[in-house]
Amino acid sequence: MSAALVVGTQWGDEGKAKVIDYLSAQIDCIVRYQGGANAGHTVVVDGETYIFHLIPSGILYPNATCVIGNGVVLDPGAFSDEMEALKKRNIDVMGRMVISDACHIVLPLHRIIDAHRENSAGSKKIGTTKRGIGICYGDKTMRIGLRVGDLSHANKLRDRLGHILEIKNHELVNLYKLPEVSFNELYDSLLKFGETIRPMVKNTSFYLNEKLASGKTVLLEGAQGTGLDIDFGTYPYVTSSNTTTGGAIAGSGIDFRYLKTVTGISKAYVSRVGEGPFPTELFGADGDKLRELGHEYGATTGRPRRCGWFDVELVRHAARVNGLTEIALTKIDVLSPYDTLKIGVGYKRDGVKLPAFPSDGDLDGITVEYEEMPGWKSEIGHVLKYADLPKACCNYIKRLEELCGVPIKIVSVGPGREHTIALA
Ligand code: IMP
Repeated sequence: MSAALVVGTQWGDEGKAKVIDYLSAQIDCIVRYQGGANAGHTVVVDGETYIFHLIPSGILYPNATCVIGNGVVLDPGAFSDEMEALKKRNIDVMGRMVISDACHIVLPLHRIIDAHRENSAGSKKIGTTKRGIGICYGDKTMRIGLRVGDLSHANKLRDRLGHILEIKNHELVNLYKLPEVSFNELYDSLLKFGETIRPMVKNTSFYLNEKLASGKTVLLEGAQGTGLDIDFGTYPYVTSSNTTTGGAIAGSGIDFRYLKTVTGISKAYVSRVGEGPFPTELFGADGDKLRELGHEYGATTGRPRRCGWFDVELVRHAARVNGLTEIALTKIDVLSPYDTLKIGVGYKRDGVKLPAFPSDGDLDGITVEYEEMPGWKSEIGHVLKYADLPKACCNYIKRLEELCGVPIKIVSVGPGREHTIALA
């Protein structure tokens, strides 16, 4: 009947999975629409931690169906590992998972090229997750990608893979001086993977629109964040997909008129992993303090995340390009020990205030204007109601809401499902 979308408003790792898990209780279908196994979505249920890379976290709800939409790049190895790991925890994926036949496949050679390019790029590296994401999307755009639908017909696969390897082996050997990929081994493993997933493969656009037309609810689960969007992020320090609302429509094929809410997930401070500009970043002991308080280490790569103060300009940008209808503010409990909190309220370049987040993502020479607010200096992890939060904490939430221009409807005060406060 209606679709809801959850997107990151910063540079990823905003705590989307936690909110998606909270919202999924009311949802029939949860859909990933972009990205791939570069994502690391952490959910804590009854004290148990689950980390998802490709499979929507909604799989934890036994009645929900999970969909990998056409916009996702599917890594067979990563998907199989995740499926196995869930099976060991008695979560059946097979009967409740649907995969688009139009999904592009991440080949092992995509990972090899990604890692090689990063390792040899010196100061020009992006800081990718080395999961082959950008290389796979590149091949998709070059029209030399392999799709899930190609795996179900041996002859089609043979023909398509042969063509792809002709081009990619030329690139591997002549451009990167790397060994060729052998056709037979890759063909066999892809054919086998195709057989495994065959019962799950569908025209997911048709499937989802049918569900919506019959009154079911759909939640679209964004990965990464607006600052990492290929068009609206800090290019070239971005991921290779549209993480934003447009990407959700293109990557799922749902009729956009079903989309009723767009929830932007904003962490109460900001983190970033990988290279690229970060105007409100804290350095040295200040950065280390926030990283340790927030346990800010990558769920996919284990890399320490860079940390800094809340950046209003970035979230306003996200509000605009996504059409946010509400914000869920996460990890506010992490700020409890601070005497004073800073909020980045605007950007200046050469002493002149910028009207908006720069559309070319170039943040060189930017200085940030800050506002300071008193902290609340008390533990809030146990609080269940907004009215029971300390006054200074409510003031911080209300000030962010005012500055971002979007109502804050959910506040998260801890990692568990129970640590979630809905605001009226
Ligand atoms: P790629 O997506 O692996 O190509 O990496 C491109 C950029 O996006 C790098 O800065 C990564 O650190 C970042 N990135 C990719 N996935 C995530 C994520 O799930 N959370 C945070 N950053 C991410």
